[in-house]
Amino acid sequence: MLSKEEMKSYLKEHLTESRYNHTLSVVETAIRLAQIYKVDKNKAEIAALAHDIAKNMTIYDLKSIIDENNIKLSYDEEKTPELWHSIVGPIVGKKIFKIEDEEILSAMRWHTTGRENMSKLEKVIYIADMIEPGRSFPGVDLIRKESFNDLDKGILQGLTHTIKYLLDKGFPIDINSIKARNYLVLNK
Ligand SMILES: [Fe+2]
Ligand SMILES: [Fe+2]
Repeated sequence: MLSKEEMKSYLKEHLTESRYNHTLSVVETAIRLAQIYKVDKNKAEIAALAHDIAKNMTIYDLKSIIDENNIKLSYDEEKTPELWHSIVGPIVGKKIFKIEDEEILSAMRWHTTGRENMSKLEKVIYIADMIEPGRSFPGVDLIRKESFNDLDKGILQGLTHTIKYLLDKGFPIDINSIKARNYLVLNK
């Protein structure tokens, strides 16, 4: 696996400045959360560093990687290119950063939508992405505060916020976010 410094220099070159800064903030937030919730700090740091590795690829490149790897997109995923960087992220993370750890790759895969019955590492990366200090949207302070108090409550609020936002905007909602939220509601 590449060293963290090598990963950073790759990201600095392949991400926009704002996306790179976002990544560093997700790293910082994920490490803090990992300490609180007893998640492997090193895995959290690497997953956070790598989570948006594919974010600034063109839609064309993302789609080619999806096709080359014979990934079957659902109809909804096919129509939602915003999700593609999280589908492609683990593939690029494996190839370029030489990440082999399945827990890390899975946290990268699910950082945008969440999924049913997430691992603690997946939860940390999902919510760190949403609440890093650079994020500012109505309600973020509450989700931030809750996330450092009670991880599941923070995630439930985060998912509810995102689903409500998408509903209000008339956008489609990824089925995995619904399942992630249902699971937390039903297992409180
Ligand atoms: Fe992302
Ligand atoms: Fe991100």
